[in-house]
Amino acid sequence: MDDKLREEINRRRTFAIISHPDAGKTTLTEKFLLFGGAINTAGSVKGKANSKYAVSDWMDIEKERGISVTSSVLQFNYDGYCINILDTPGHQDFSEDTYRTLMAADSAVMVIDASKGVEAQTIKLFKVCVMRHIPIFTFINKMDRDARDTFELLDDIETVLGIKTCPVNWPIGSGKEFKGVYDRKTKIVSTFQAISTGGAKKAEETDYHIDDEALKELVGPYLFDQFNEEIELIDGATEEMDIEKVRAGELSPVFFGSALNTFGIEQFLNYFLKMTTPPIGRNSSEGIIDPVTEPFSAFVFKIQANMNKAHRDRIAFMRICSGKFEAGMEVYHAASKRKIKLSQPQQLMAQDRKIVDEAYAGDVIGVFDPDLFSIGDTLTTGGKKFEYEGIPTFAPEHFCRVVQLNSMKRKQFVKGVTQIAQEGAIQIFQEYTAGLSEIIVGVVGVLQFDVLKYRLENEYGCEIRLEPIPYNYIRWVKDPTIDVTKLKRVSDVKKVKDMKGNPLLLFANEWVIDQVLQHNEGLELEEFRKN
Ligand code: G4P
Repeated sequence: MDDKLREEINRRRTFAIISHPDAGKTTLTEKFLLFGGAINTAGSVKGKANSKYAVSDWMDIEKERGISVTSSVLQFNYDGYCINILDTPGHQDFSEDTYRTLMAADSAVMVIDASKGVEAQTIKLFKVCVMRHIPIFTFINKMDRDARDTFELLDDIETVLGIKTCPVNWPIGSGKEFKGVYDRKTKIVSTFQAISTGGAKKAEETDYHIDDEALKELVGPYLFDQFNEEIELIDGATEEMDIEKVRAGELSPVFFGSALNTFGIEQFLNYFLKMTTPPIGRNSSEGIIDPVTEPFSAFVFKIQANMNKAHRDRIAFMRICSGKFEAGMEVYHAASKRKIKLSQPQQLMAQDRKIVDEAYAGDVIGVFDPDLFSIGDTLTTGGKKFEYEGIPTFAPEHFCRVVQLNSMKRKQFVKGVTQIAQEGAIQIFQEYTAGLSEIIVGVVGVLQFDVLKYRLENEYGCEIRLEPIPYNYIRWVKDPTIDVTKLKRVSDVKKVKDMKGNPLLLFANEWVIDQVLQHNEGLELEEFRKN
């Protein structure tokens, strides 16, 4: 066995950060990168209007809005580890890509705003992590602002998300009274002293043992007593650390800190990198594929079109699951049963794209896609022909009827919509009664409607009108042989099929879903569709 290969794979940590917008994901990512020395100015990750663009400024729509449409990967080295952060778009650019990225991650970091607790978008992303049984680490951010009670926050995670929690550190106070965090293992308190409230400077930090008299003085008697009472309670009130449960995604280690003040970040990273695993075996049609002993294999989890407008190219992003990738290598593409050469692979670094010569299991590479790849495709080498488990299709939440304005351009319209759907940016559905001139498009994030309109006009020369329709929930009918026209209580439910002919139902709200389920015995509806 090649020792270098084993070493390279074992030092990889590939994770995604999930959160509700504004919880601090961008700030935290940026601080991780700063620790890794990958960037040296704050504000280079964020894609907001007032700051620099970091990674993907390839489409006008992104520039106009100051957001990034598709996610990318940030790689950097820290303390001997090679870290891949899979960026999950979260604001208006939230899309199915956000979900799919989680299929390529080995673990997730969940960022929660200490004053808000668990929020809507976190719940959605969390569900995908649970489906995959990946470890989930919690970072409770913004402790420098008035936070909710610590026990209440943990209780919120446990009840809303249904995962047990184990605090690794414990905060002393919050907001103006935030004094620091206590490391339960080392019994050391790192004290917090904000230098500036608005800036991105690092907080001043001093370490004290919990029995140190100076600590009591610094914290003040009232807070100190309260803190002592709390830590006596924690042992009885929270789960014990159990690394097996953490790795099975059943127990979430919790950390407190302030990303903006670079407080608690290093401690988090140090624990996290040791507690989470290097890439582990993935399930395939031939069983579990070992990342180290098997030769190169990968699967496509994202396709991004037109990264370079001049060339109208498509880049397929793939997660390497085993072995080593070398530029120009020939791989077997299971879906087309063809051998292809992977030339000019790219890796998205913190600041820009670069061509890579080699990459290892755990890494993500983007390769030029000659209209061959689809989401979920497997690539193998060494005479192997297995396929990794498919990436599910996730239920969109916004729907529009697409009306084509120029009927002469029918062919381009169908081609455009089909291609964009194939890339996974939108899902297309057809009504049972309507013809092909009208289709319904479903998206996970509303921005994708703009992307669709923009791309149909600019790339395919097709003008369209999007008419919103009043449905927000779509469910696959688990048994596709069921005749949906015979279902009861479906007068206000729209019946559609996807491009593979699978039946789906569109609902206005969850109450209607319950009604339909109650009145149709044996009917099963699905939120994710395994491909
Ligand atoms: P997101 O990617 O999850 O959407 O969140 P982001 O990091 O952009 O953070 C959202 C806002 O919260 C930002 O402020 C950011 O500075 C602030 N923030 C992040 N971490 C902390 C923290 O630990 N403490 C405090 N007090 N604030 C924090 P903004 O005003 O919206 O943006 P900006 O003008 O600072 O860029």
